[in-house]
Amino acid sequence: MAAPFILSPSLLSSDFGRLAEELHDLEMAGLAWAHWDVMDGAFVPNITFGPLVIKALRSRSRLFFDVHLMIERPERYLAEFADAGADLICVHAEATTHLERAVAEIARLGAKPAVALNPATPLCAVEYLLPQLHMVLIMSVNPGFGGQKFIPFSLDKIRDLRTIINSKGLQTLIQVDGGVSPDNAKQLVEAGADVLVSGSAFFGFPPYAQRLQTFYAPFKD
Ligand code: DX5
Ligand code: ZN
Repeated sequence: MAAPFILSPSLLSSDFGRLAEELHDLEMAGLAWAHWDVMDGAFVPNITFGPLVIKALRSRSRLFFDVHLMIERPERYLAEFADAGADLICVHAEATTHLERAVAEIARLGAKPAVALNPATPLCAVEYLLPQLHMVLIMSVNPGFGGQKFIPFSLDKIRDLRTIINSKGLQTLIQVDGGVSPDNAKQLVEAGADVLVSGSAFFGFPPYAQRLQTFYAPFKD
């Protein structure tokens, strides 16, 4: 069976003291992506890591580095994150005045561009940019912390975005982040999601190879 979706584990819930080993364990368990939650203490209340940490881990891992920037005016740091080895850079529509410019800059730097939308931000904020985007991230919690409850209306938002992407004949991926678990994974994929981010519901349940199969299990029925 082909994998029903890409699981991108959110390192926010990993052991920061063992990041290199965590990345290694993910790779050994058959994961392909790693989700980096970069927080600046301004766009969101929390502070995590920046480009220097990502750069230090880049040479230790072959995983696809999916970098979610929860920072104000991300255009200030795009070159640093690209240089750090981010494969994909995702900026929040709410964090920059000139979103199109930021997206074009990410592509120019050689990374895959993505845009994240907070739960209350409507899809029209990215609609005209879709042909330029590798992925749209639908936040299904208010960003800042792991372990929050999935906001139910996110499901409608995923369905509506799937309809728009299909009607335009585009390949843009839909990622969902926040409150994702094996219990709602199938519903999210049926609504149109391609990539699911999971933090607490993934790292809290080792071994990782087995946990990945728990996420895939509902698709085998
Ligand atoms: C939230 C982050 C998420 C978060 C997900 O601000 O963007 O990636 O770590 O964590 P869980 O899966 O625990 O909701
Ligand atoms: Zn995230």
